[in-house]
Amino acid sequence: MTFPAVRPRRLRMRDALRRAVAETRLHPSQLVLPVFVVDGEGVRNPIGSMPGHFQLSVDQVTLLAKEAESVGVGGMLFFGVPAHKDETGSSAWDPAGPVPRAIAAVADAAPELVRWADVCLCEYTSHGHCGPVRGGVVDNDASLPLLARAAVTYAEAGAEVVAPSDMMDGRVAAIRAELDRAGFHDAVICSYAVKYASAYYGPFRDAAGSAPAFGDRRTHQMDPPNVREALREALLDVEEGADMVMVKPAGPYLDVVRAVAEVSPVPVAAYQVSGELALIEAAGERGWVDRDRVVMESLVGIARAGADVVLTYFALDAARLLEGSR
Ligand code: PBG
Ligand code: ZN
Repeated sequence: MTFPAVRPRRLRMRDALRRAVAETRLHPSQLVLPVFVVDGEGVRNPIGSMPGHFQLSVDQVTLLAKEAESVGVGGMLFFGVPAHKDETGSSAWDPAGPVPRAIAAVADAAPELVRWADVCLCEYTSHGHCGPVRGGVVDNDASLPLLARAAVTYAEAGAEVVAPSDMMDGRVAAIRAELDRAGFHDAVICSYAVKYASAYYGPFRDAAGSAPAFGDRRTHQMDPPNVREALREALLDVEEGADMVMVKPAGPYLDVVRAVAEVSPVPVAAYQVSGELALIEAAGERGWVDRDRVVMESLVGIARAGADVVLTYFALDAARLLEGSR
């Protein structure tokens, strides 16, 4: 009888040693919590397809921000659900809109949190498309000045990172130019450089009321089979001045996260989207999986693939679980 001399198990037998040799470490500071902001006060509208998440008025966002800050969450990403929608999405650059007010309130109440503003028009247009529509499709070039104007509005309110999620060609350069013209040289651009036309956005569109009234987003968002194209998109955005690039969704596209991380000269973010949350919560609710463990495993997987920053609806839970695991 011979015994194996080499036993990888030896390093796995004790918690402290397992922690010491862990190759990937998640820290709450890497996590960014997306929130949906509405007008009013004391508003907490539950989002059916996103258990634990609500459309929140600014006062409620402020409470959540304090909680997030206290457990070390890195940042908060703001989406607006406006009272008024029109053809061009003009509420997106209303300085009195829910997002600018939330940004200012959070700057005050939870200054440690990095303030991220999503920049897109689909929550603000009456037709739910990511820019003005001409001939049934989004008019790329007409949307650029509008996106830039929205980005400047958020920077003026105190956003430190603007994150264009529209996928129009040339928007990073357009936004950089306007930010600089307005004096916001230090505002960071994290572009949703690699954003797929994904069915995983379904719950988000309920939350933000942003489902397109006709057609879909396949003329501007990426086609799921493609990865070479992802590298092209990421490098193009870096050339245009992106300080960080994002891949979205995250879980179903870990190979893309890895491929982008290998060539990107800037930090890489990945967005674990609403549908990824919904799947985990639904299975957890039925007792089919251990929800908390699946949450942490999904996030470690995204970090292991190469993401530096993870945008996730689980940010608050994960930060608490990370705290509890030490
Ligand atoms: C808006 C936007 C979307 C998401 C982030 N920004 C939806 C979309 O493109 O329809 C999705 C986020 C999520 O599903 O959690 N352009
Ligand atoms: Zn959009």
